[in-house]
Amino acid sequence: MTDRTPLIAGNWKMNAGTEESLALVRAVAEAAQGKRCDVVVAPPFLIVAAAAKAAKEAGGKLEVAGQNLYPRDNGAFTGEVSGPMLHAAGAQWVIVGHSERRQYFKESDEFVREKIEAAVDSSLRPIACIGETLEEREANKTLEVVFRQVDAFAPLLAKDPGNIVIAYEPVWAIGTGKVATPEQAQEVHAAIRKRLAETTSQEVSEKTRILYGGSVNDQTAGELLGCPDIDGALVGGASLKSDKFGQIIAAAG
Ligand code: PGA
Repeated sequence: MTDRTPLIAGNWKMNAGTEESLALVRAVAEAAQGKRCDVVVAPPFLIVAAAAKAAKEAGGKLEVAGQNLYPRDNGAFTGEVSGPMLHAAGAQWVIVGHSERRQYFKESDEFVREKIEAAVDSSLRPIACIGETLEEREANKTLEVVFRQVDAFAPLLAKDPGNIVIAYEPVWAIGTGKVATPEQAQEVHAAIRKRLAETTSQEVSEKTRILYGGSVNDQTAGELLGCPDIDGALVGGASLKSDKFGQIIAAAG
């Protein structure tokens, strides 16, 4: 048995305007009340401050994440948002290295590592995303790819056991409705945990929460969350519907 507290995080991506967001924050805060798991939502940057305020007013059980950050505190980086800015706006978390950022914005393993370090330095807890493409899976390269991605930031996990969360999100399962089977997900999660034990320490490996992401919904969450090495979920589409997201939270207990 593990004492890792499950974490359910909603990644709203570039969706939900102000009004819709605040209604969603209130509904999710209510669904999170009294639950054992940690619950986080990641709205677009513009909404972070208002969402954090609404979450606090609703009792503080729900916490707020940025979806990204830039790894400098301030300066001439037009269009970017820093860790200290997110923290000042009331965010406690930040998603880093999402596959959409790696794919569309060409973020490298090294840049993702810098972002994780910047997040920790700004007192934000990072949710670091990794995962293989369909092509890589079909070429039997899943573990090679996820180990390369994890190895890039593993020394940061060792410095701060338990603070950095990993989200395993197979790219082929994101937004496609093609959720990994619990067996497929558990196999990769267990391999990542073993890798962490080898590259950091047993303690770090046991303390690190590894979330699954990719088409998680109210129907599939229960079985996935029942796997021994799956410590929660990073949810995209289904996190925009408070009833579905509420059921995922309930499945985590
Ligand atoms: P999805 O997105 O649940 O819509 O597949 C997950 C994610 O991208 O984090």
